[in-house]
Amino acid sequence: MQNRVKSELFPQVQSLVRRLGQLCLLLYIFGGLIMGDCQAAEIEFKTSIAPLLCEHCLRCHQGSKAKAGLDFTTAMSALKGGEGGPVILPGNPAESLLIARIKNGSMPPEEDGRQLTPAEVQAFSTWIADGAKWPAGVVLKAK
Ligand code: HEC
Repeated sequence: MQNRVKSELFPQVQSLVRRLGQLCLLLYIFGGLIMGDCQAAEIEFKTSIAPLLCEHCLRCHQGSKAKAGLDFTTAMSALKGGEGGPVILPGNPAESLLIARIKNGSMPPEEDGRQLTPAEVQAFSTWIADGAKWPAGVVLKAK
């Protein structure tokens, strides 16, 4: 009797344990993804800012021929600013010329396609407020 119960139950228990194991693995993977998203509430340079710079700014602000001497391809050149000095003041979007120029719609220039949306301007503003973090070694290139 005892043996019969054991032999019938054991495979079931085994498969239950296996299933629980799979469930835990799934929870671990997807839970990690979801948590990751929550923690990225601050603006992430690579996903939110770099694509905007590449698509809307680098055509004119890249390399040694950059307009106004303003080159947005590296952290160093971007933070150095243009002929008029810095345009990004980390922690201070209100005083950053970059924000003023994308907010008033003068950058990108009108003839160059669409202006940035309010959400995109906000992303730049939050990124600068968070310290304008630019991961080490990231070099941007125009599309
Ligand atoms: C079609 C070319 C073009 C594009 C695209 C463009 N710019 Fe400009 N940008 C210029 C020119 C030309 C100047 C210099 C004349 C002026 O200040 O209007 C300038 C000047 C600036 C200045 C002022 C620099 C200074 O020191 O006075 C800022 C800030 C700026 N751009 C930011 C941006 C940003 C941010 C983008 C993308 C969202 C962008 N620009 C896209 C051509 C461009």
